[in-house]
Amino acid sequence: MSHVKHLIEKLSREHILTLEEYLAIITEADQEDTAFLFDKADALRRQTYGVDVYVRGLIEFSNYCRNDCFYCGIRCSNRNCDRYRLTKEDILSCCRVGYELGYRTYVLQGGEDPHYSVDDIADIVSAIKKQHPDCALTLSIGEHPREAYAKWKEAGADRYLLRHETATKSHYDSLHPEKMSFDNRLRCLRDLKELGYQVGCGFMVGSPNQTSDHLAAELLFLKKFGPDMVGIGPFIPQKDTPFGDQKAGTLEQTLLMLGLIRLTLPDVLLPATTALGTIHPQGRELGIKAGANVCMPNLSPVSVRKKYALYDNKICTGDEAAECRNCLSNRMARIGYRVVTARGDRIICK
Ligand code: 5AD
Ligand code: FES
Repeated sequence: MSHVKHLIEKLSREHILTLEEYLAIITEADQEDTAFLFDKADALRRQTYGVDVYVRGLIEFSNYCRNDCFYCGIRCSNRNCDRYRLTKEDILSCCRVGYELGYRTYVLQGGEDPHYSVDDIADIVSAIKKQHPDCALTLSIGEHPREAYAKWKEAGADRYLLRHETATKSHYDSLHPEKMSFDNRLRCLRDLKELGYQVGCGFMVGSPNQTSDHLAAELLFLKKFGPDMVGIGPFIPQKDTPFGDQKAGTLEQTLLMLGLIRLTLPDVLLPATTALGTIHPQGRELGIKAGANVCMPNLSPVSVRKKYALYDNKICTGDEAAECRNCLSNRMARIGYRVVTARGDRIICK
């Protein structure tokens, strides 16, 4: 057995490696090693989740953002971004459509848009929970004071997604303007956890300046933080951003990281993201086969889909919610998995 296969075997037994060991897999794995990794990751995921794929209905309710992340197409400096906001009624109607299609989790995602006050968001959260008490609600609206997070939790929010973007402070600083800080990002994640949210963090694969050491450090960060969910996807340049002419992250590296995350955190909720589906026509299917167990199809009205352009060439921007839902069920069935109607909470296996 190759050195790398030994390390993968060890990881699938012990669910942790040293930085050097992770690094060896990341830098040395050949095709046979990665096939071995995906088999181990898929087997481990099946132990807890079987062939079930959880779906979350994603509602991108505002593309206004006060931040200016160098990679992101909806950054405030992008004058070419056609801005929109959905009203509370728009959002509730997206949820109704989603409910009919079998979604039992909604993810409200948006830029950091000061137009919605803390109370506005709390009001939207409680209205959704009143309309659909059997559904889980996830917020993904960026960095806020602890008091805001607490209010939204009280209003009924169950989960919060906030990607840390990179676990290395100096790398974080190279992706963000000076007024954003790695420390505040981590403060948010800690607050969310303490307040009782199910928390998702995550990072981009192949973001500018990212090295193999950074990727190895991601795995140790995840192990230490212990998130319920981990959202990762390839970096994809958006033409109107400072990183518009940088190279995209690769399919291979993203799949490798998905497999390593599954073996490191056996019961974590791990989406095969839209960005992965964007860089390869079978990206999401390959992600599921590498250890992912969640998909997040779009529920936003088709009229605004193209405008939530974090990166170029995003898929599914012309499809009605129902088409996306069917397309995904078919895609998963074709590879032997099954989209399920469930809240899709994390199953804790220890
Ligand atoms: N490519 C890939 N992912 C991106 N995101 C933002 N911009 C890009 C891009 N150009 C991701 C970030 C953010 C999430 C909402 O989308 O990780 O946290
Ligand atoms: Fe808003 Fe990046 S500019 S998330």
